[in-house]
Parts: sequence; C-alpha cells; structure tokens
Amino acid sequence: MENYVHGYTEKESCRLADQAKTLAELLNHDTRYPAGSRILEAGCGIGAQTVILTKNSPDAHFHAIDISQDSIDHAQKAVMAENITNVTFQGADIFDLPFQEGDFDHIFVCFVLEHLSKPLDALMYLNKVLKKGGTITVIEGDHGSFYCYPESKEAMQTVRCLIDIQAGLKGNSLIGRQLYPLINQAGFRAASVSPRMVYVDSSKPDLVDGFSKKTFIAMVEGVKEQALSLNMINEKIWNKGIKDLYRATEDDGTFCYTFFKGTAFKP
Ligand SMILES: C[S@@+](CC[C@H](N)C(=O)[O-])C[C@H]1O[C@@H](n2cnc3c(N)ncnc32)[C@H](O)[C@@H]1O
Repeated sequence: MENYVHGYTEKESCRLADQAKTLAELLNHDTRYPAGSRILEAGCGIGAQTVILTKNSPDAHFHAIDISQDSIDHAQKAVMAENITNVTFQGADIFDLPFQEGDFDHIFVCFVLEHLSKPLDALMYLNKVLKKGGTITVIEGDHGSFYCYPESKEAMQTVRCLIDIQAGLKGNSLIGRQLYPLINQAGFRAASVSPRMVYVDSSKPDLVDGFSKKTFIAMVEGVKEQALSLNMINEKIWNKGIKDLYRATEDDGTFCYTFFKGTAFKP
C-alpha cells in the first residue's frame, strides 16, 4: 500500500505494537466474542490487535487479513511467539475480499479507515461478508482531539503537518469524529460510538512512555522528512514543536488524545 503515511518500517512495527499494548485495556477490554464465532479482522497489520483479540476470546476463531504480505508474515510470527492458535492469516484487500456473503459472525477494524480514500466503500464491502445479525467494531483515532500542557503553537504545527500529509495521501486522520455517520451510511444499524480518551500525566509513567512518547510523538516524528521536503514547516519550527511535545511528557506536563470506538449490527 504505497499511500500508507506511516510506512512499513521496523520502527513503525514497534510503534504499532507499543500502541496496541498500551491501549489494550482502554480500547479492547470490551471486545469479546462468543465461543465458536468467526471473526474477520480487516487490516490486521503486524498482528498487534490480533494478539489481544485472540487472547480475549480464546474460543472464537479469527481470520486476519492485510494487503501487505510483509505485515502478515510479521503477524504470524507474533501469534506463534504467544502460542496463539485461534487465528488464520491471509493476504487480502478489503476492496476485493476472497469471502462469500455472510461468511463472518463479526468484523473488527482498527486504525485502517483513516488510511483509505474510500472508507465508506470499505465498510460496505465488509458489510457484505458479515452475517445478518452480526456485528462490526471499528476503532479510529482523531488527531484533532490532541492537546497538551504546556501549550505550544509549534507543537500543534507539527501535528498539523501529519494531518495534512495524511490528507494529501487521501487519508483522513480526523476520521474518529465521523465514525457514527459512516457506520450508518454503510448499512449497519444501532450504531453506538464511544469516545475513549487517553489522558496522560507523570503519575502514569507507563502511558507517558507507551502512549505519549512511543505512540503519539513517534507517529508525528515519522513525517519529519515529508513535512520539510513539502515546505509545510521550516526545520527550526519543527524542532521546537517536537521539543515542546517532549516537554509535555515531563513531570508537570500533560497529554490528551481521544480515540473513537464504534459498534453496530447488520440488520
Ligand atoms: C495503521 S495499520 C493498523 C494495523 C492494525 N489494525 C493495528 O491496529 O495495529 C493499517 C493497516 O491497514 C492495512 N491496509 C490498508 N489498506 C488495506 C486494504 N485495502 N486491505 C487490507 N488491508 C489494508 C495496511 O497494510 C496496514 O497494515
């Protein structure tokens, strides 16, 4: 997937793994599937969520797909390392799914729609392979929900670069706020979206490290070269912005970000 803003580097794999582990409780404590059910995880990446989902629902069977075969290989190793056996991996495109109508009892999609130029179409394709009465769960972030203390104009400018670069690649990092209409427009019913806020201060050192530094700042830092080469920002302002983001991870700093988790069923 050439347009993927974060790329497929080893560093990005570590970021995805840190993100999933740090946010597991907040985002997935309530993602549980009944014994015997078949779940499609679409866009599983390196399996960071897969490991959590399969452990949460050991008697369900997961089918995890991704368009990147390298990511699938990585994901396979991740589940083998944890002795997880209730998942099958397959290289596949959400827009060309190799499944029959109604093949799955449930669908799970996390941090994928934000990278797609046609997120509504993606949900409609996923809808087709879901059984009537089955559920879909969609988790997305929204970079517009970020703020920190101490406030910094330059820090916000670096985040804006990430938002604009992703938009330039036809993605939408502000998609969290749009989940409710998207899910409804895709033909699902009884959509329910719950905001999941990550609030971080120095009394939560695990979140300072796992979320503020290794998930959020790492993600912003990842677009430095693109932001500079596109003349979106000059290097002096960029460096000050990143320094200020780290400043907000110090003892008297705070960080806030909201994810959105939507669930609905197929009528
Ligand atoms: C940010 S990663 C998220 C991975 C995983 N869901 C997680 O939360 O760690 C987005 C993933 O979506 C995959 N992807 C993008 N477009 C896709 C498509 N059309 N079909 C299948 N996978 C796709 C990418 O290859 C990438 O692995």
